[in-house]
Amino acid sequence: MSDQPVIVVEKASKTFKSARGPVRALESFDMFVNQGQFVSIVGPSGCGKSTLLWAMASLWPLSGGTIQIMGQEVRSPRREVGMVFQSANLLPWRNLLDNIHFPFEIMHENPKRYEDRIKELLQLTSLTGFEGHMPQELSGGMQQRASIVRALSYDPQVLLMDEPFGALDAFTRDEMNLMLLNIWEKSQKTIVFVTHQIPEAVYLSDRVYVMTPRPGRNSRVFDIPLPRPRPLALTTERAFFDIVAEIKQTIYDDVQAAADAGKYQMDTYAH
Ligand SMILES: Nc1ncnc2c1ncn2[C@@H]1O[C@H](COP(=O)(O)OP(=O)(O)OP(=O)(O)O)[C@@H](O)[C@H]1O
Ligand SMILES: [Mg+2]
Repeated sequence: MSDQPVIVVEKASKTFKSARGPVRALESFDMFVNQGQFVSIVGPSGCGKSTLLWAMASLWPLSGGTIQIMGQEVRSPRREVGMVFQSANLLPWRNLLDNIHFPFEIMHENPKRYEDRIKELLQLTSLTGFEGHMPQELSGGMQQRASIVRALSYDPQVLLMDEPFGALDAFTRDEMNLMLLNIWEKSQKTIVFVTHQIPEAVYLSDRVYVMTPRPGRNSRVFDIPLPRPRPLALTTERAFFDIVAEIKQTIYDDVQAAADAGKYQMDTYAH
């Protein structure tokens, strides 16, 4: 891992125009991610996490501030950047392999060059043998794994993941986390991961950014000093719990402060 910042987010702000007036979703958010780092973003529901990720993928423009990826300001979709969404978003009329080939069609590229890579990713995600299956013949976890293969197939340097395992049960989620760490350790990708699950963020990440309630601003940044490789058993250790508790407390305090200021109505957020 080098100390080269691959992602530089500076004073990122986004205000949506809606029928009920402007919605300030993100305000002056800063984030730096080094080459090969695994960074998570956590914060209460609706604080602006997806808004930031979508801006990083150039799916919409910022209202203010800048995002640079690999030294270039993000202005249009880039092939160095892959994105995995909360739902797998597979095309239901295409089989698994044809879904994985879809980005190549968009980029007018022949997937042949990437055949070995795709085979290896299918192996890593335990999807070998299912290439001809239609999405409706696959479980939710398999569909989600296929969407990860799709995002990694053309070898982007940066992977943006927006609650990719949100819809999965706890057991499948643990398996997915192990699989993701395995891929990450092998590929040295730079990953930005959004999740509601604080333990998941701590388990996976080198660094966790906490966002305040909307509009999303920087709250605290936690470096996670837990050694790697990280076995699942780590999640039952005291050192792990202590970090999870501190991050949760930070979010509770931020939510309380926003509620005291009359800016926050929700009294809960997911764990
Ligand atoms: N296209 C849009 N038009 C208007 N408002 C929007 C739009 N997209 C998001 N918002 C608003 O911006 C705010 C931030 O939304 P965002 O989806 O980024 O939150 P989030 O942190 O990802 O939440 P969650 O954890 O629930 O996924 C919310 O108040 C949301 O209603
Ligand atoms: Mg979201």
